[in-house]
This record gives sequence, C-alpha cells and structure tokens, in this order.
Amino acid sequence: MPLTRTADLLASGSPVAAFNVITVEHAEAIAAGAEAAGSPAILQLSENAVKFHGGRLTPIASATAAVARASSTPLALHLDHVESVRLLHAAAAHDFSSVMYDASKLPYAENVKATAEAARWAHARGLWLEAELGRIGGKAGDAHTPGVRTDPAEAAAYVADTGVDALAVAVGSSHAMTDRTATLDHALIAALHTALPVPLVLHGSSGVPDPELRRAVASGITKINVGTALNTAYTGAVRAFLEAHPSTVDPRRYLAPAREAMAGAVERFLRVIGATRDP
Ligand code: G3H
Ligand code: ZN
Repeated sequence: MPLTRTADLLASGSPVAAFNVITVEHAEAIAAGAEAAGSPAILQLSENAVKFHGGRLTPIASATAAVARASSTPLALHLDHVESVRLLHAAAAHDFSSVMYDASKLPYAENVKATAEAARWAHARGLWLEAELGRIGGKAGDAHTPGVRTDPAEAAAYVADTGVDALAVAVGSSHAMTDRTATLDHALIAALHTALPVPLVLHGSSGVPDPELRRAVASGITKINVGTALNTAYTGAVRAFLEAHPSTVDPRRYLAPAREAMAGAVERFLRVIGATRDP
C-alpha cells in the first residue's frame, strides 16, 4: 500500500510506535511485526544509521521505503535525531513525511533559533517536524542522564516559539538501555500533555517496562520510539544460532531467525502500547 504520513498516524490521538531501522532486515522485521499486530507504525532512520551507511541516505532510505510500500499495513517514514542541516534538507528528496531535528545539545536560545528555522523549512515542504527539549541521555557519546526533565512552562514557550509539530520530552527514559528498569515521571507527562498543544514523544522506550509504557500512553505520550530492544532480540538470535551452529557461513541462515525475533519484538511492543487498530 502507499506510504502513510506520520502526521496522519498521530492525528487520531492513538499511540503510534516508531522503530529504528539500521539495515534492510530491520525494515522487513518492522513491517512483518506491524502486519502481525494489525497495526500501523513508523519506520525511522537516524542520522547515526545514515553514518553507518557511509553517510549515504539514498540506498537505505529507498530500500526502507520499498519495504514499507510492499506492506499490507500503513507505514510512515521518519528521519530521526538529525543534527546536520544538510541531512535535514536531504529528507525532502526522499520518502520521509517527518523529521526529528535534534538541537537538544545547544543552549536553550540557540536550540529555539535553529529549531524554528528547521520547522519553517520543513513546513514549506509539507514535512512534519519533531524536536527535543530537555536532553534525553544515552545517545552516542552521552552518559545516561535519567535525572534530566523537561519543564512544562519552558516547553510550552518552546513549542510556541519554534512552531514544531511534536516534542520529545525528558521524563525519565534514557537511550540505549538494554535492561528495562526506567521509571517514568507520570505526573510530569500529564503536566506536559496539558501544557502542550502537540503530541509528546517518548525516546529511549526500550528501557521502559511494559506497565510503565502503558501508563505513559495513558498519561499523554503519543509517539513511542523503540530501537535498542529490537537489536537485543536480533543479536540474541544471531548469537544463539551461531553458538548452536558454529560452522555456519551463509548469513541468511542466522539472519532469518534474527529477523523473525525482531518482528516478534515489534509485534509485542505494538500490543503493549495498544497501537493495534480495528479492521
Ligand atoms: O529515537 C530513537 C529512540 O529514542 C530509540 O531509543 O534505542 O533506547 O529504544 P532506544
Ligand atoms: Zn531517540
């Protein structure tokens, strides 16, 4: 089916999961998991994933779009954690309907200025723009900073001053956690939900236990970003296969079960957050 748009998925107010793509197998697994759950989803490529592909966006973006178009469930494409203005501008030449412009490393005033410019650029091209306020830790080169929080009053001013369409908020999660031990500040999520006219995005959702994820949705989180948990499932399956079959050299032998394990993780996340749609 044709690609859907991030804005349309989020317009319903129902929770939507966005899963990180690194390789084509990720895209295939995410599409398979979403189909199994009977749910729409977002496939997102991060700036770091593009760097992994030698800085070339087109091959992996085109392959991801082709996989998404071949799916029987609505899938949208999102470009995630973009710090480079050059990469932001490359989004318009591909199939992305949304971009996260991440100026969260910058001091507040510079973040506002750069993000407002990015939002103007995106809106002129029909793209939906997500931004981050209150640095969510655990990104490459970061220490985990689970104590950082987004202030609701500052966030309301930030959204008004930048014109962004969604906001990634620091509410207790942290990127790249391989255990699920994060505890979220649900009162803060509710306060941000009340204070802001745009959808709230939870980054680092891999480290959040299921009951906390369900409560986060009930408290006002709409977009749930998941990456590391998929790689945990994938790599775990590769490791198990190669331990059992140490002489294997054909990557298809171990990537097939790995892709299947990742699809299972995707389906599980979608069911936990209640992203499945009535037929
Ligand atoms: O933007 C992507 C997400 O925040 C993924 O975070 O890998 O910790 O699940 P995660
Ligand atoms: Zn993130």
